[in-house]
Amino acid sequence: MASAAVSHRTAEAPQTADPLVSVEGLSVDFATPRGTIHALRDISLEVPKGKVLGLVGESGCGKSTLAYSMIGLLAENARVAGGAIRMGGQDLAHLKPKAWRDLRGTRIAMIFQDPMTSLNPVTTIGKQMIDIQYREPISRSEKRARAIEFLEQVQLPDAAAKLDVYPHQLSGGMRQRVCIAMALLTRPDLLIADEPTTALDATLELQIVTLLRELQETFGCSVLFVSHHLGTVAELCDEVAVMYAGEVVERGHVREVFHAPRHPYTQALFDCDPARIRQATRQLPTIPGTLPDLRQPPAGCAFRARCSKAFGRCAAEHPPLHAAGPGQVARCHLNDPAEDVA
Ligand SMILES: Nc1ncnc2c1ncn2[C@@H]1O[C@H](COP(=O)(O)OP(=O)(O)OP(=O)(O)O)[C@@H](O)[C@H]1O
Ligand SMILES: [Mg+2]
Repeated sequence: MASAAVSHRTAEAPQTADPLVSVEGLSVDFATPRGTIHALRDISLEVPKGKVLGLVGESGCGKSTLAYSMIGLLAENARVAGGAIRMGGQDLAHLKPKAWRDLRGTRIAMIFQDPMTSLNPVTTIGKQMIDIQYREPISRSEKRARAIEFLEQVQLPDAAAKLDVYPHQLSGGMRQRVCIAMALLTRPDLLIADEPTTALDATLELQIVTLLRELQETFGCSVLFVSHHLGTVAELCDEVAVMYAGEVVERGHVREVFHAPRHPYTQALFDCDPARIRQATRQLPTIPGTLPDLRQPPAGCAFRARCSKAFGRCAAEHPPLHAAGPGQVARCHLNDPAEDVA
């Protein structure tokens, strides 16, 4: 299935010349009373400098776990079972809490699905935006001026007056703009956004995505953008990683992956995307079957039980990431040049 041009390449993910973050073979487990959940298994990917990486996949595939592991916010019952997250000479997967406190809010910031996760409901927007600048060696009035400047950057109307309001006095879209402004105030190298538009209606979603793209270009930071919404990922992202059952199953430039997905799971995700379905239908298609039990991930290919193209090898052998096109890799035996499926 791999073209002649790439058939000689080994099964390695494409390397970005100078990535901001390199996730190398990361595995994360959760301890639960019902057993250990292997939520991330041998994840390798890179967040390129100054680019937007999209993370997609069904609910429960591990997107948030990966996002949280990059900002040191994994739950108490999580354990890094292997691998590393390299950023500027540090391994984020094994940082001590003190080192995390220094990195969070300086080099790495996060926007959550629910803006109230990061806003304090009983403190004015202004105080929160001034407090977050506690590291800056500038006066309070300068911090206030900077807060207004950043609220203007996120196109919040009447920015100065917004400093005196409480979060509940703003609409959901405005609250998310405030969170984006607060995240950018610290001038992070990496901005992590976990479903930041899922709670908003379609018009607001488009506005926030357009804003994020503009701000990313202005500030030049890298963004890890987690979303269920494939159209939004196509709009915003430069690269995309598709996750299934705790693994990256496909990775590449957004244009190539969206134009020619090479993993049957990615193909199935696109087939079920409401935005891509041309015929009017009352029942949206879904991928048949369910995610495997992450306490005992299957040997072989994790998607095989739901895959219409599965064959003998898929049960016996865990597929590596095969080169599948220019800058594109897919964890599927059909992309193995040795597999003659033409
Ligand atoms: N603290 C936890 N304890 C136990 N299991 C957890 C914990 N957090 C997540 N999980 C499990 O880890 C797996 C990955 O969850 P995660 O939240 O990363 O998925 P997701 O892709 O972000 O899903 P969604 O799209 O619904 O947000 C799931 O099986 C989930 O139930
Ligand atoms: Mg999630």
